[in-house]
Amino acid sequence: MARTSMTESSSPRTAARDHSPDHGQPLAQRLGAALAAGAPALDVLAAGDPVDRRDRFLTLLAIYDLSTAPLSVLGDTARYAGSPAVAALKARLEASWVAELEAVPLPARLPADAVEGMRMLAARDRLPAAYRWLAREASWNELVRFLAIEGGPDGGFDDLVAACQVGLSGSAKLELAQNYWDEMGNGHLDGVHTTMHEAMADAIGMPRIDRADQPVEALERVALGGLFATNHWLQPEMIGALGLLELQAGPRCRLVLQAFDRLGAPTAAYPFYAEHAEVDPRHGKDWLDNAVGPLCAEQPELSPRVLQGAWWRSHTNRALFDLLADEFTSGEQEQAA
Ligand SMILES: [Fe+2]
Ligand SMILES: [Fe+2]
Repeated sequence: MARTSMTESSSPRTAARDHSPDHGQPLAQRLGAALAAGAPALDVLAAGDPVDRRDRFLTLLAIYDLSTAPLSVLGDTARYAGSPAVAALKARLEASWVAELEAVPLPARLPADAVEGMRMLAARDRLPAAYRWLAREASWNELVRFLAIEGGPDGGFDDLVAACQVGLSGSAKLELAQNYWDEMGNGHLDGVHTTMHEAMADAIGMPRIDRADQPVEALERVALGGLFATNHWLQPEMIGALGLLELQAGPRCRLVLQAFDRLGAPTAAYPFYAEHAEVDPRHGKDWLDNAVGPLCAEQPELSPRVLQGAWWRSHTNRALFDLLADEFTSGEQEQAA
């Protein structure tokens, strides 16, 4: 999905104009410097504008880190997550981003019912061209780079599920708890999905790609998790987005396993994708049956919002996988159906 560069506009009611000497530098860089310098430097940034979409998402990701990254990484900067300047900047950048997301029309003939609509969305992009190319044609180096950008089916999913369940009750609460416990390897450290992902990354020599070197489509896809995790009011959309992820992950993981087989991947590469190929179809079904369905039956007004969140996930995903298909196949692949 092509998007043009943009500049955030400040609301004159909520933010003074930015007249700081380093105005014009990428906002993410200015934020990093201000976080290191402390509160007075941050105040200037409340009115700051990102220079483009990439800068918007790098800035938001740095802000989301303040609330979600390990404290061992953040150090004292974590205390600024709720500072007035950071909160004002976050709210302003998110407002224009959410408005963009809301402006993307839902696919035609999508059922209004959240469960049925999510099933249709999941089926629509179940096997993107990039994954089919991965299974059939990618070289080893291409496979490793693809997986490094893709980040696994659920990078940070355990924390996202934990954030998503706050304030839920009944069947939905139980379903998210069950899902979380599966993420935790049902109590076995070796089976924790993050641990398995690390083992897979070690086995194939997968590099960690800095955000600065990731395509903007990948940054937006990751930032969507931060948007949800730090905005409780978006819980219905988050339930839709995480559910769609579960519904789509299984078939994609099977294609990664086909690529592993074809290219002779080491044994230790398999458990992470094998686990998700097997359990995510069940996770997706259970998420619909036990979380989305009961929640929307009880509060029908949430149904369009749950579906909207699934759509946000769907089209940010599609933007990334279309880009990867183009990058790796020079546009020779057919477009995802
Ligand atoms: Fe997982
Ligand atoms: Fe899952």
